[in-house]
Amino acid sequence: MYYHKILVIGGGLAGLRAAIESAPRVDTAIISQVHPVRSHSGAAQGGVNASLANNPQGADDTWEKHGFDTIKGSDYLADQDAAELMTKEAPGCIYEIEHWGCPFSRTDVGKIAQRPFGGAGYPRTCFAADKTGLYMLHTLWERSVKLNVPLYEDRVLVDLVLEGDSCRGVICWNLKTGELEPFMAEAVIFASGGSGQIYGRSTNALISSGSALAAAFRRGVPLKDMEFIQFHPTSLLGTNILMTEGARGEGGYLINSLGERFMSKYAPKAMELGPRDIVSRSIQTEINEGRGIDGKDYVYLDLRHLGREKILERLPGIRDLAINFVGVDPIEKPVPIQPGQHYTMGGIDTDIHGATKFKGLFAAGECACVSVHGANRLGGNSLLDTVVFGKISGRVAADFVLAKKDQKQGEAAIMKCMRETKERIDGLLARNGTENHADIRTEMKETMFLKVGIFRTKSLMDEALAKIKELKERYKAITVQNKGKGYNVDLIRALELEGMLDVAEAITIGALKREESRGAHSRLDFKDRDDLKFLKHTIATYTPFGPVITYSPVDVSKYKPEARRY
Ligand code: FUM
Repeated sequence: MYYHKILVIGGGLAGLRAAIESAPRVDTAIISQVHPVRSHSGAAQGGVNASLANNPQGADDTWEKHGFDTIKGSDYLADQDAAELMTKEAPGCIYEIEHWGCPFSRTDVGKIAQRPFGGAGYPRTCFAADKTGLYMLHTLWERSVKLNVPLYEDRVLVDLVLEGDSCRGVICWNLKTGELEPFMAEAVIFASGGSGQIYGRSTNALISSGSALAAAFRRGVPLKDMEFIQFHPTSLLGTNILMTEGARGEGGYLINSLGERFMSKYAPKAMELGPRDIVSRSIQTEINEGRGIDGKDYVYLDLRHLGREKILERLPGIRDLAINFVGVDPIEKPVPIQPGQHYTMGGIDTDIHGATKFKGLFAAGECACVSVHGANRLGGNSLLDTVVFGKISGRVAADFVLAKKDQKQGEAAIMKCMRETKERIDGLLARNGTENHADIRTEMKETMFLKVGIFRTKSLMDEALAKIKELKERYKAITVQNKGKGYNVDLIRALELEGMLDVAEAITIGALKREESRGAHSRLDFKDRDDLKFLKHTIATYTPFGPVITYSPVDVSKYKPEARRY
């Protein structure tokens, strides 16, 4: 049995930042499915928001304005105290990571450069060309190495051990050896990222399956606001690789088949820099009404007028991606793009410090719902969320462990969970059914994108729910072809699919019950936001017969919800 005082699940930005905070005070280790610098945080391109006021156009920016923009952007579902905490902590967290060596792009006078992103109206997004997440990730990884934080890589979390109201540890599958491993801890911080792979057309990496979150859900950890799925307006046609919002921040246009900058119809003031929910819906409307390029399901992101020099300096990464994946050089031609699933705004229900209702269990980053993003996250607030709430959860988990009286409890519970997990995996390997789990995954992804997607209706979501139930039944008859041990990806994909179906069901039921339109949850049968009935968080609790939905209040203590205009 491995033992550490704190286990951080996930080696992306939130996990690294949490470990960096707790490790100097309390023995802390990171468990990660991939090497930390291969985490999905590295795919974040355009930047991280903080009211540094470095750009003359945003010279009077303040954390309060950033807080308000975040709350308004969230369609008033963000908890206002949490959004304020995040935006107040933002400048300090950015300067901290700058001082640790993060190579941010610079202004003419050497300050951290900032570009405009949606929902702000002026430059607030700090950036490092269009590879901000990657540079931040390397900076935090180096910091964790400096602190000698132990890393268990190639480990997939397969179960969470809870005993009564306390967290005792986790069970992992060692990809290399093909063995289960028990880990005991006084506190566990989930920083396992998003669940984007549940959807087709996702910008998310294959590792963003949400399987760790699903394991917690199955053990009774409630999920909050799962129906709020962000669709990024500009993902590359075909692969759905992210084409950063920074491209529009630098002045890029969105163009339909008639050559029109169609955003003038939908967000006349903000144009291409409206919030993501509005821009994605606008693109999808153009496509649905036949104004996609050649009548197909994409429009153009046009950067040509920015000029070669600016594209090479500010957007080199997306230029490479466009050249390599669609054979288009944005310096010369417009880039074909379409909205793609991008971010899971809901997640493990936590308080403002990342604590869950279970003692010793914390969550931070995309797998958590604090909630700062509400119904629609502003671009640039996800990297911020990782460093702010990673840091806070690391600090609070360390405080918890240092104050904890009874330590090293729960060995019997961990070994019981080991046995149950072993039986589950052995059972899966022994099955010889007729179903292929890759087919089930494909059908789930298509169903979620088409029926619980950018525009939703009861009848579409009823169909989706019936399909998910059918897929859950068919899952019982899958075969894992590869019975081997080392790096058995066939087994891992099969294992994680079970949890993905549970989460897909929670998303769909939450969305069906929310009979209003708010942020990214856009219902054609309930077009208006309904604050009277639905200004509340959705809480999904697992049962074997499907999730039970309850609701919890939203903190609206500072700003009264208003209509959003951009
Ligand atoms: O468009 C982007 O660069 C993505 C940023 C984000 O999701 O915050």
